Amino acid sequence: MNIRTIDWKSNKVRIIDQTKLPLKLVYIDINRLEDLWQAIKIMQVRGAPALGAAAGLGMYLGIKDYVCSDWDKFNRKLTSVAKYLASSRPTARNLFWGIERILAVAAANKTKPITQIKQIILADAKSIMREDALSCRKIGYYGSKLFRKNDKVLTICNAGILATIDYGTALGVIYSAQAQGKKLEAFCCETRPLLQGARLSAWELHKQGVDVTLIADNTAAKLMQEGKVDVVITGADRIAANGDTANKIGSFNLAVLARYHKVPFYVAAPKSTFDLKIKDGSGIKIEMRKDKEVASLLFKREITPKNARVLNPAFDIIPHQLINGIITERGIIRMPYIRNIRRMLRKE
Ligand code: MRU
Repeated sequence: MNIRTIDWKSNKVRIIDQTKLPLKLVYIDINRLEDLWQAIKIMQVRGAPALGAAAGLGMYLGIKDYVCSDWDKFNRKLTSVAKYLASSRPTARNLFWGIERILAVAAANKTKPITQIKQIILADAKSIMREDALSCRKIGYYGSKLFRKNDKVLTICNAGILATIDYGTALGVIYSAQAQGKKLEAFCCETRPLLQGARLSAWELHKQGVDVTLIADNTAAKLMQEGKVDVVITGADRIAANGDTANKIGSFNLAVLARYHKVPFYVAAPKSTFDLKIKDGSGIKIEMRKDKEVASLLFKREITPKNARVLNPAFDIIPHQLINGIITERGIIRMPYIRNIRRMLRKE
């Protein structure tokens, strides 16, 4: 499928408006940092690696029209743009990784003229996108080895083309296995409250020719009990040094179910999702989102009394003990994670 989740086109950030899918495939062009911030907040662009790319391009949007000639002043502006962008969503490591990468590349070139530093920032933002596309292909390649022909795979949320630059992480593994002739059957959890599984994963899996069945989130246990799931695979928003993984709310449920039913549970993510400064999952900040996401059906129809109390964490933590392997662009990391994550990330 030839789509770009996020791109730099005609001097603007072009994104697919994911809130409109699957009914309409609509692109929007963004020229102002504030509009990109909003697009991230309301999840027109979403998914950890896509947010890494948004961070890079957002940093450029924030300084492209800023006129000044000395580094200190420019750096102050860059720092304030970074702070603002970082306030859009707290959990996905890639967003912060992208911001930090641009700050570092700018600082490394601080003796150059500001106009040149701006171009270096844009070039690096584009590199983030190129590198992510490549990483996803490699994740797909390594992950595909875990599947046998006709395996039935369960996934949650959307860790596919729409969450990355192209190809995806968890879904990229499915695409890669399928391209090698291992026909798979995919099951998508609908992923309440915002339905990324139903709206996005089912859409792109179908377009990519994968045999896909949508299930309500609470159907996963029954499916596993009936022996209809061979592998569970999810993406990740942030992975701590010990392998504890933050991902879409409901991922932890699936990991517990998978262990009970002796079904292997894998996480697929690029290096940019790891956060070695965080020791374990308890240090990962979980985004809390608005009540109305849960209290309504996609904001259109209220489904609970007005005064009902709502709790809406967007992510949960999968304890590393429940993860059979973490598929990265450098290969599959297995237990013990503390040692093997460091080894794999250090490897050239
Ligand atoms: O709230 P979202 O839709 O941004 O959550 C996305 C996920 O949980 C994905 O699984 C994760 O970002 C990995 S995407 C390759």
